[in-house]
Amino acid sequence: MNPLNHVAIIMDGNGRWGLKKKKSRNAGHRAGLNTVEKIIKETIKQKIKYLTLFAFSTENWKRPKKEISFLFNLLEDFLINKIDDLDKQNIKLKILGIKNFSTKLNKLLNKSEKKTSKNTKLQINLALNYGSKSELINAFKNLIKNKDKFNEKNLSQHLQTKNIPDPDILIRTGDTKRLSNFLLWQLAYAEIFFEKKLWPDFNENDYNKIIKKYRSIKRNFGTIT
Ligand code: IPE
Ligand code: IPE
Ligand code: MG
Repeated sequence: MNPLNHVAIIMDGNGRWGLKKKKSRNAGHRAGLNTVEKIIKETIKQKIKYLTLFAFSTENWKRPKKEISFLFNLLEDFLINKIDDLDKQNIKLKILGIKNFSTKLNKLLNKSEKKTSKNTKLQINLALNYGSKSELINAFKNLIKNKDKFNEKNLSQHLQTKNIPDPDILIRTGDTKRLSNFLLWQLAYAEIFFEKKLWPDFNENDYNKIIKKYRSIKRNFGTIT
């Protein structure tokens, strides 16, 4: 049975769900947040140590201002209401990406990270204004600046995922088969699951089916034994 330390998820399909059910993309984002809570609970139940959630990409700034501000308001409310609870559950929150949001949200994110930084049960990496290509470029720049030797280990140390094991599983919901600039380096050996369901419809049962399938896969990492 394969060990499972890290699940990464591209939570896609909120907008389509919202349009279909409530004629509003934003309603889909709100519904998607319920799925986030369900999946966090199940991740703890399954004793998985790292959960990385793609919430906003560097490319998502191309969306209408109204949708962007709705998303960040949703995140603000979530943190204000839930951070104490996450902390009590011994969950650590880490932001991947560049924190260049409103002063209020930047402060809230820093405060939430600091408050939970010593927690050990589950680490949630929230990818916000995250883009893998820009992360890699920064890592290479820092590698050169530090005059570090060019190798995989040193490069990994300059990524935002430094000291986090690479994802074992990548799930993308929303019936789309692409990576959309997410963790290009870190996913080199991940088992990838593309899920037809839109993110708000994804549930514990779907998640556990994927975990079960993952456990039974023969991971070769290049060997043939
Ligand atoms: C993913 O859902 C969430 C974010 C990118 C913030 P989408 O908003 O991309 O939903 P679809 O793909 O348009 O349905
Ligand atoms: C990827 O979804 C980003 C997040 C889930 C946050 P998108 O909906 O932005 O991806 P594309 O644009 O369809 O590739
Ligand atoms: Mg999408």
